[in-house]
Amino acid sequence: MPGLVSCPSGLIVIGILTLSCVHINSEILSNEVSDVQFGALGSTVTLTCRGSHQGSAVVWTHNGSLVRTRQTHPSDGSLTLANTTRSMEGNYSCHEPRGGVLLQSITLRLGYAPEYLSVSCKLPSHFKMLCTWTQRVKTHLPTKYISSYSVDNSGPEPCEQELMDVNECTISNPVFWGSKHLVNITEVNPLGSKSTITFVDVNRNLKPDAPEELICEQVNAEPTQLFVHWKPPASWPSDASVAFPLKFELQYRPVGSKFWSKMETEDTSMVIMDALMGHLHHIRVRAQDAFINHSQWSEWSQLVQAQPWSDPSMIHEATTDNFFEPIFPSTFPVKATEKSPDPSFDENGSQVLIILGLLAAVMVVVVFTITVLLCVRNRRQGNVTKQELTSMVKMKSLLI
Ligand SMILES: *[C@@H]1O[C@H](CO)[C@@H](O)[C@H](O)[C@H]1NC(C)=O
Ligand SMILES: *[C@@H]1O[C@H](CO)[C@@H](O)[C@H](O)[C@H]1NC(C)=O
Ligand SMILES: *[C@@H]1O[C@H](CO)[C@@H](O)[C@H](O)[C@H]1NC(C)=O
Ligand SMILES: *[C@@H]1O[C@H](CO)[C@@H](O)[C@H](O)[C@H]1NC(C)=O
Ligand SMILES: *[C@@H]1O[C@H](CO)[C@@H](O)[C@H](O)[C@H]1NC(C)=O
Repeated sequence: MPGLVSCPSGLIVIGILTLSCVHINSEILSNEVSDVQFGALGSTVTLTCRGSHQGSAVVWTHNGSLVRTRQTHPSDGSLTLANTTRSMEGNYSCHEPRGGVLLQSITLRLGYAPEYLSVSCKLPSHFKMLCTWTQRVKTHLPTKYISSYSVDNSGPEPCEQELMDVNECTISNPVFWGSKHLVNITEVNPLGSKSTITFVDVNRNLKPDAPEELICEQVNAEPTQLFVHWKPPASWPSDASVAFPLKFELQYRPVGSKFWSKMETEDTSMVIMDALMGHLHHIRVRAQDAFINHSQWSEWSQLVQAQPWSDPSMIHEATTDNFFEPIFPSTFPVKATEKSPDPSFDENGSQVLIILGLLAAVMVVVVFTITVLLCVRNRRQGNVTKQELTSMVKMKSLLI
């Protein structure tokens, strides 16, 4: 030791150690002055006044107001709160009765220990399992979740939580054939922890997302047909659709009818052959894994409406019939495959219109160019007169 002290670098080391000790001590002290204490709602919670001298009385305040004294223990100055409710949360501080010196302040937070969670897991494709959970009992306390899973009794693997503050975790590439997934979501809060273990049958929980971009089109000159096409859900990897095909169920009905007609296909398009002539139809589609019978159907796609092609010469007849829906409603989403030419419009007339349009365009360009040129000229003149003015002023000042 004497060698160490005589050496100047040794002195520096001791100095640093002493400084950091002082620093640590002051941190501990400040922690003692402002504490957070957690308690269970409905239980009895005791707050101790650590700064108080043995046997001396203290005064407690809650959110700045004085606390009734019969709850305090004269012997050690602690405060007992029975049958706690949420209004008992907040800032507590204890003071010396004379002079009111602050001895300690405690922030009390009340809630419940973790309970079992509601956990649900779904597989939007063969490559991903998503588990989400909600508290059955609101705990009101800061909470952390540890999520893991194990397959066929092998060691646990983490179920990745990607988003902060979202109760969701992801398992990539779950094992499909004949295996049991046990998902373990453990909730931890200051009052304890609880693990919810959920058994997941990956086949039964396989549920594709809904098909997308459903479009229904008229078939020209076919008053009872509708051509429907859609895209598989984006979450179902397209390069895997050969190994893991989807099947689709298409449903359609005339607007106002209660009964859906159904068709199944592994294709992404279909022709409805028995649409009701002159009627608006509702059409929707959903998806399911083509091979796993007890997997789930997706939710329905967006509902679209469309009406089969109808003979333009029949329009008058149809509109006079009250029973029919309007033939061409304004929100008609149908993309006509072929536009039928408007009979009231002959070709010569359209040529004349095109020539007139071109002439008008040329006129507009000419007028615009002339205007721009005039503006530029005016501005130049403006500049010149400004320069003349300033030089005149200068000359004047020279004369004076
Ligand atoms: C409690 O104390 C904390 C920190 O001292 C302060 O931010 C907060 O506003 C206080 N709350 C009440 C209700 O007095
Ligand atoms: C707390 O609740 C118990 C039973 O619910 C009751 O007997 C007791 O009087 C209550 N104490 C206070 C201080 O309200
Ligand atoms: C004290 O403050 C806490 C936190 O702001 C609040 O939850 C509680 O209801 C307040 N209680 C009283 C009696 O003011
Ligand atoms: C669930 O996870 C928690 C936290 O990792 C662990 O302590 C517990 O033993 C697990 N339970 C089971 C049954 O695996
Ligand atoms: C699915 O169901 C069909 C008809 O109900 C049946 O023929 C087929 O064997 C089943 N496939 C599986 C994998 O269970």
